[in-house]
Amino acid sequence: MKIALIGAGNVGQGLLQLLRDKGAALATELGLHAQVVAVATRRHGTLYHPQGLDAAGVLDALAAGDLRHYPQSSGLARDWDAARIAREAQADTLIEASPTDLHSGQPALDLCLAAFASGKHVVLANKGPLAVAYHTLTDAARRANKLLRFEATVMGGTPSIRLAQQALAGCVIREARGILNGTTNYILTQMENGTSYVDALAQAQRLGYAEADPSADVDGWDAAGKALILAAALFGTTLRLDQMQVQGIRGLTRDNIFSAHQEGECWKLVARVTPEGGSVQPQRLLISDPLANVKGITNAVTYVTDVLGEVTLVGPGAGGLQTGFALLSDLVDIQRVARH
Ligand code: HSE
Repeated sequence: MKIALIGAGNVGQGLLQLLRDKGAALATELGLHAQVVAVATRRHGTLYHPQGLDAAGVLDALAAGDLRHYPQSSGLARDWDAARIAREAQADTLIEASPTDLHSGQPALDLCLAAFASGKHVVLANKGPLAVAYHTLTDAARRANKLLRFEATVMGGTPSIRLAQQALAGCVIREARGILNGTTNYILTQMENGTSYVDALAQAQRLGYAEADPSADVDGWDAAGKALILAAALFGTTLRLDQMQVQGIRGLTRDNIFSAHQEGECWKLVARVTPEGGSVQPQRLLISDPLANVKGITNAVTYVTDVLGEVTLVGPGAGGLQTGFALLSDLVDIQRVARH
């Protein structure tokens, strides 16, 4: 499978590390021969080689600050921009892992549509295109007879989408409720431990958990974007950000957090979607609630189903390698479906 990777930040590099370190095992154990042919970054250059790039070499060049440090070879192009790569690169799958714009979905949305139009599958870590144009993308995939996958967009590497769409197929999911933003859950946990809001946010940024603009995390919009994606994937609804009640964690003080704790409760930023709508709000949860004990960067979602009752999934919700794994799991899934 030839891959064009748009965006080589934490998540894109996480995928490159996994391909570098697990490439041989993926080929022998799963029959996945993944070969990166293109990498496009906004500020650190682009590479395209139809015969494939060396993942370790790309990572070394990025570590040195720019893709210009990738060794020259015959057939290597450095002047293809992301739009040309999406349109013209000889690749089976486009992976979009550039920063999210939840309001326009751009420029990633156009890249995804160009990729479908030129016969590529699309895998997203970028939430923007799905949050604004889920049905446009699924229609484009259907018309092109290609696959759209987006496990990385919700709960990082923890398979929330695949659990709902594949393992729970046959159940009716009536509601999803969860902690979908790692940065705010990390901040709330650190505040419980006595750290100030400002220091906890700075730590989350240093650790690479926060969005490029962290107000997307602390004001609830990142969780809302993920909730929209869940609503579309679970219920087929077209919810928009402006139709959701969204409130972040800026108003919570250490006093609020300590007094909740003394009363056997704790504050969490909870996202909730049903077929009727959605919300993101700080809530005081009883310590006995499964979501209350989800700490740090960990995320969780509870699916309320007709047959099984509540099914709760807990796991890492952010981090480059972890979210890179979700991209890898989508490649494995695409290969499995395409093979049949
Ligand atoms: N900023 C996001 C979070 C990254 O903290 O959850 C993962 O989507």
